[in-house]
Amino acid sequence: MSPGYINNKNPKYLEIDGKFYGGILVIDYYREYNEIIFKNLINTNVNMNISIFYEKQDTYRTIKDLTYFIGNVGVDLKSGNTNREDIDIAAYSYNDAKFIRKEMQVNNEELYFLYTYINIISDSEKEMERNLNKIEGILQASGMMTRKANFRQEQLYFSCLPLMINQNDVKNVCRRNILSNGLIATYPFISSTICDEEGIFIGTNIYNNSMILVDRFNKEKYKNANMCIFGTSGAGKSFYTKLLILRYRILGLEQYIIDPERGATCCTLKRCA
Ligand SMILES: Nc1ncnc2c1ncn2[C@@H]1O[C@H](COP(=O)(O)OP(=O)(O)OP(=O)(O)O)[C@@H](O)[C@H]1O
Ligand SMILES: [Mg+2]
Repeated sequence: MSPGYINNKNPKYLEIDGKFYGGILVIDYYREYNEIIFKNLINTNVNMNISIFYEKQDTYRTIKDLTYFIGNVGVDLKSGNTNREDIDIAAYSYNDAKFIRKEMQVNNEELYFLYTYINIISDSEKEMERNLNKIEGILQASGMMTRKANFRQEQLYFSCLPLMINQNDVKNVCRRNILSNGLIATYPFISSTICDEEGIFIGTNIYNNSMILVDRFNKEKYKNANMCIFGTSGAGKSFYTKLLILRYRILGLEQYIIDPERGATCCTLKRCA
């Protein structure tokens, strides 16, 4: 399980067992967003780990802090000095704070901290650079502000492993608050792939490289187990059919083959029989 070597000399990436790992931090989001924000990201075919942390905040304490803040800034705003440089920002955050307090008290919403990290895995330095730029472009087009995790690659790599460790060095840059209603927009399990629990491997989705597993004999899901394969001559239809036969064979299914051309199908079967 553990890698043979880790090269962390370059601040722009980690090199682990010949693979290059480059990180992206999502540091800000649109103020208001109604769609699934990671939709375009998940539908790309770039190899990456996405790590999303949610931290629920204590409602009572949050409301107390908000009230304190609203009181303070409210007095500031009323003091009459409208010439201050940050007067617009103060007014904005004052209204935001009031909005959050209202949502929490009236609509029973909860406040969360949200952290998003992305670790891109590539075979070469050049490919990694290209993928990093591609993903950053996609994120920015979806209304997120990003930053490359230079000098923090190791911390980001750890945060993207399934260890539930949110490293402090990346945490402080990425923290954003979000109400439970907004959390819906970060739902990540949206890829439109087919994955039946007892299915056999059919192939990969060309759009996002996800595996497609189909259980043709699942009567609850499919009307019947018929299947049809299209392809130009020599594309690999017969080869593919034989593969499927083999895979079903491994599961112990009894199979009958009718082949007018007496093709290699019979040989394949005899061999594994
Ligand atoms: N996934 C694959 N990997 C490697 N070789 C493959 C693969 N699929 C097909 N081939 C090779 O491609 C060639 C053509 O494949 P195949 O005979 O299955 O094509 P076909 O679509 O059935 O053609 P036809 O329409 O003429 O019957 C074969 O030599 C086969 O070994
Ligand atoms: Mg054929």
